[in-house]
Amino acid sequence: MNPLKDFLLFLSKRKFLQKLMSTSGPVKFVSKRFVSGENLDEGVRTAQDLNKYGLLVTLDHLGESVSDEKSALEAAHEYLLIPDRIKGDNHFSLTCSLKLTQMGLDINYDFCFNNIRNILKEAARHQKMVTIDMEDSACTDRTLAIYKAMLKEGYKGTGIVLQAYLKRTEKDIRDMLPLGPRIRLCKGTYKEPAEIVFTKKKDVDANYIKLTALLLSPESLAFGTYPEIATHDEKIINWTVNYVKANNIPEDKFEFQMLYGIRRDLQERLVRQGYRMRVYLPYGTHWYPYFMRRLAERPANLWFLLKNLFRK
Ligand code: FDA
Repeated sequence: MNPLKDFLLFLSKRKFLQKLMSTSGPVKFVSKRFVSGENLDEGVRTAQDLNKYGLLVTLDHLGESVSDEKSALEAAHEYLLIPDRIKGDNHFSLTCSLKLTQMGLDINYDFCFNNIRNILKEAARHQKMVTIDMEDSACTDRTLAIYKAMLKEGYKGTGIVLQAYLKRTEKDIRDMLPLGPRIRLCKGTYKEPAEIVFTKKKDVDANYIKLTALLLSPESLAFGTYPEIATHDEKIINWTVNYVKANNIPEDKFEFQMLYGIRRDLQERLVRQGYRMRVYLPYGTHWYPYFMRRLAERPANLWFLLKNLFRK
């Protein structure tokens, strides 16, 4: 348990603070470390810059916990524009990621389902891949249900995020393997009830390694699973590199992923070593909850923010 982390995650859900922080100059300045810009053009420009360094990118239009249909439709509309905007010679170098609560999951399941189907249809038309982020555990079952339904409808390139801190994730992976999924494995970033998660960091890390081995196992790869190792944890990354070398797993059968603004040195090192390395690149004006989760993950970021607040 980490009270500061819990407090920051609590604040990440407070709407009044969102309004206050989003308009503060110093906070906006610090948020730029993690967010590429306010609109799609700025996002695409940064993505293309990253591509020049050999980094692959997944673009995320920031937004979540949408509570009215109009806002959800606006968010869905933005995602209908992205595939055309990021199409290019290499359909693999730029993809996008989205959150289901941004598409109306908490308003109405069928409404959200239709929004996602429309986006995947448009993405498929441009040979673009979409990954569905994983939010807090209240969303897990509904997110997995929509994901599996989309794979069954034929949207095969679609990816899903799973969280190593959840005790259920091993079973979720095993259930999904026959579908040949694209799975982005992260540690998990939300405040969850203690009964359903590994509460100690060392147990989360051990589970992450166990699940990475499962995703990279011969049975899993034979189903067509594409593992995406989404962590900045150098120990886990080194473990994965050793594992794929020892098991002769080709570099195009998996990839590493990290968030924009975190461990750029490590991102470039993996590219130099010949691995696929994708950067999760958010853009948009609704950056507050995303930004607060980045602060919660690393208190040093909070001191950097406080220093900037008092300097101005
Ligand atoms: P850990 O927290 O142990 O950090 C390892 C090291 O990374 C730290 O020592 C530090 O050096 C660096 N680091 C980590 N976080 C940092 C930060 N905020 N600022 C500066 N340095 C930092 N979560 C989720 O619940 N649902 C989702 O859909 C996603 N999606 C997602 C996509 C991608 C591509 C990534 C990389 C991550 C996510 N996450 C996520 C977030 C994830 O669950 C997790 O909270 C963060 O990645 C931090 O955990 P690490 O694996 O990096 O390990």
